[in-house]
Amino acid sequence: MIFLSQLFKSPIETGAIAPTSEKLSKLIVDMANLSEKKFVVELGPGTGVFTKEIMKNIPKKSEFFSLEINDEFVKETKSNNPEATVYHASAKEIKKYLRQHNQDKSDCIISGLPWGALAEDIQIDLLNEIYDSLELGGVFLTIALLQGLMFPPGMRFKKAISSKFKKVERSKIVWNNLPPGFVYHCIK
Ligand SMILES: C[S@@+](CC[C@H](N)C(=O)[O-])C[C@H]1O[C@@H](n2cnc3c(N)ncnc32)[C@H](O)[C@@H]1O
Repeated sequence: MIFLSQLFKSPIETGAIAPTSEKLSKLIVDMANLSEKKFVVELGPGTGVFTKEIMKNIPKKSEFFSLEINDEFVKETKSNNPEATVYHASAKEIKKYLRQHNQDKSDCIISGLPWGALAEDIQIDLLNEIYDSLELGGVFLTIALLQGLMFPPGMRFKKAISSKFKKVERSKIVWNNLPPGFVYHCIK
C-alpha cells in the first residue's frame, strides 16, 4: 500500500508500483557476493526488501549504510530492518556519508533506484557519484525492469553503464516480479 501512496506523491522517484519480489531481491544480493565485501552501500531501499537480504548475508565485521530520499520509506526500511543504518539522504551524497564512516570508498554498491524513470542529467549525476565512490575493482549492482530495455531512459542507462564500467553483465530475467526484471552487475 505504501508504494501506491508514494507513487502518487513522488511518481518519478518512487518509480514502481510494488516492492521488488523476494526472488529478485535474493538474486541481486547473491550476485553481490557479500562474504568478500568490506563496506556495502545501498541506494533507494524503499520498504527494505534488499536491506533484509543484505542484513542476512553481510559479514559481521563489514560496514553498511543505506541512503533513501523519501522519509516515509526511511521509516518503513528502519521498522522492517531495525539493525540497519538508514539515512534520509540522496544517493548523490554517498561520498559524504562514507566520510562520516571514516571511509573514502565502498567496494559494493547495491541500487534499487528507478533508473528507467529518471531524467538523463539525474542519471548521469548519480552514476558519477556511484563510480567515484567505488574502489577500483569494486562492484555496482542494480535492478532493471524488462520494459526499460525498450524505452529511452532504460536504453540510455544501459549505454551509460557499459561505457563507464570495465565489465557489465546481465542476470537472467526474473519473471515473477511486477514487472519482470533482472540485475546488472558492473565492475569498476
Ligand atoms: C523502485 S523503488 C525500489 C525500492 C526497493 N529497493 C525495492 O526494490 O523494492 C525506488 C526507491 O528509490 C528511492 N529513490 C529515488 N531517488 C533516490 C535518490 N536520489 N536517492 C535515494 N533514494 C532515491 C525511492 O524513494 C524509492 O524508495
